[in-house]
Amino acid sequence: MNAGGGDMNDILRVGIAGLGTVGAAVVRLLEAQSADLAARTGKKIMVTGVSARDPARERGIDLSGATWFATPKELAVSENIDLFVELIGGDEGAARESVEAALNSGKSVVTANKALLARHGIALARLAEQHGAALAFEASVAGGIPIVKTLREGLAGNRIERVYGILNGTCNYILSRMELEGLSFAECLAEAQKLGYAEADPTFDIGGFDTAHKLAILASLAFGVKLDAEAISIEGVQDISLADLHAADELGYRVKLLGVAQRTSHGVEQRVHPTMVPLSSSIAQVMGVTNAVTVDADAVSELTLVGPGAGGMATASAVVADIADIARGIRSAPFGLPVDHLAPAQKSPMQRHEGGYYIRLAVRNQIGAAAAIATRMAEHEISLESIVQRRARDGDDSVAPVVLVTYATTEASVRQALAQIVKDGHVADKPQVIRIERE
Ligand code: HSE
Repeated sequence: MNAGGGDMNDILRVGIAGLGTVGAAVVRLLEAQSADLAARTGKKIMVTGVSARDPARERGIDLSGATWFATPKELAVSENIDLFVELIGGDEGAARESVEAALNSGKSVVTANKALLARHGIALARLAEQHGAALAFEASVAGGIPIVKTLREGLAGNRIERVYGILNGTCNYILSRMELEGLSFAECLAEAQKLGYAEADPTFDIGGFDTAHKLAILASLAFGVKLDAEAISIEGVQDISLADLHAADELGYRVKLLGVAQRTSHGVEQRVHPTMVPLSSSIAQVMGVTNAVTVDADAVSELTLVGPGAGGMATASAVVADIADIARGIRSAPFGLPVDHLAPAQKSPMQRHEGGYYIRLAVRNQIGAAAAIATRMAEHEISLESIVQRRARDGDDSVAPVVLVTYATTEASVRQALAQIVKDGHVADKPQVIRIERE
């Protein structure tokens, strides 16, 4: 016997589908930590089966103990493995088929696939329940940060009010590099792709969809609602300019792409959008590919976890933690509650969102324009915290960049006031609107 409670001769046979950056790192980590993992779990964890698109590719890992399978699905149902690890990606096709096949054959599954979970998480959790199997996905949100276990087990004694964070390393990398180096959006995205942070299709990152997939998982764990990416309002970072980053800095804010889920009087609000956070906040200090998640809860008050959100070894750390849990015999309800006890997620319309707003306008240089804009704001009961007007950087006096910061108001009021201002003909360009998230 040992600390893990099992017989040291017990073996957990692991099958891994997908041997890209993360899959190869998992193999390496299992090998490097083999003795400690055996001592901790009571089982020798061995990779006995693998499947990948290109078996011939040199990966620098030892797969001599593993059988190659032609397809992930064949691996998933093989008698040769006890546990199936899905690292293929995508919400359909081989990933979905193989995970379903593994669960249907009673095998536990570990996955890093946030898109698959956001779309089919409830059906997969139901399958896992029916077959007494585990479905574990620590690596699907915020890479190496153990936020899934924190919400599901660590904070089980709390009522959570809000969970929010920087959940996409690529976007945070782009915004950080733009702000600190003055580089263009396109240059920073190309760098993030080169470093292997971005999704195969980077519009998932910059359009906010990757953050939304992760937020759906967090909201389910935090509030006991069914995962539903359709219930999330999503805006990406593609329209954020250097002008916004500079203006944010002058006003004492920094722009981050946040995923936010919070209890409100009209249900759980879930939203992804570029956000101004106070420069003094802990989340504002998080730069580069690093992720951060903050939880506001009654007993613990505020908790922030910060760590690497993407990259092979960090993500492998979370995958291996799940494998170790399963080796120990842990079978948590995937989303913290039996599937039938999860409530439906309701889309909370953004128009009802309440908070402060940053608004950047290209105001035509005509007498009365500023007064007319202030009047429209007042007509919609929007109180202004600050107004900054500068001469255009290019010296063009026909247009003046004006930045307004509002006290708390509603999205509907802001949108109506701006529609009126545009109609009045006082602005030369589409207004830029960024929501402010205060601590
Ligand atoms: N593309 C993702 C990111 C990878 O940039 O955070 C980790 O999910």
